[in-house]
Amino acid sequence: MGNTLLDLPPEQPLVSASILSADFGCMVEDCRDVLARGADLLHVDVMDGHFAPNLTMGVDMVRGLRKHLPDVFLDVHLMVEKPGDFVEAFAKAGADLLSFHAELCDASHEKCKGEPIDAGALIDRIHGLGAKAGMVVNPGTAMEGGDGKTWGEMWGGIEPLLERLDLVLVMSVNPGYSGQAFMPEVLDKARWLRERVGPGTRIEMDGGLNPETAKLAAAAGVDVMVTASALFGKPREQRGAVIEALHASREG
Ligand code: DX5
Ligand code: ZN
Repeated sequence: MGNTLLDLPPEQPLVSASILSADFGCMVEDCRDVLARGADLLHVDVMDGHFAPNLTMGVDMVRGLRKHLPDVFLDVHLMVEKPGDFVEAFAKAGADLLSFHAELCDASHEKCKGEPIDAGALIDRIHGLGAKAGMVVNPGTAMEGGDGKTWGEMWGGIEPLLERLDLVLVMSVNPGYSGQAFMPEVLDKARWLRERVGPGTRIEMDGGLNPETAKLAAAAGVDVMVTASALFGKPREQRGAVIEALHASREG
């Protein structure tokens, strides 16, 4: 596993290339291409058709990427109703970072279906498997409770967990598909996080990022930029410029 990448000092935002927009018929070759052009991580979007309205990829994709790309950092975004059922398999297959959704920890959330996840226990399990742990927050989910319905009494919000999380992923689209429009209203959540996380926790943003929207994200404190369509949607010879622009998004 390439577990050290998130330990690097965040001199410039990292670029996590979301393979959801890669060519599935030549996946490893497409991944090699963006890595050679400077992408830092590969972002693997796992959807089960329940938590998000799409079916994408699973453990075998991670195993295949790990086999052919032994040194790459695999950033695995679990958009599944029962992440706890799969973390072990993903870690064994070679995932470096496993991120699960905060909505599943809130008993009052429709996605939770009455069985809230114990976030602290899941973080410990992921760490015990030798992987980094991340938590993901959807656009409609607040960072803290207080309005009586956003976060139920079962769970007090993300703040008590920040010290134990290696990464918090702020969704800037609703989970499901690549190619959706960036939602600028989520930038406040990145700013909220930036005031609270220590140097050991990365802030990642996912959805609608391109060289323009990444500047807004970087100014709000984001230091890992996920990109699918703005990168893989471009002809190969133009991808290096996209990665360069995302790396430079904090400048000026
Ligand atoms: C959305 C996924 C994203 C998606 C991003 O559910 O989590 O990672 O691939 O796609 P773009 O960059 O095209 O918005
Ligand atoms: Zn994602």
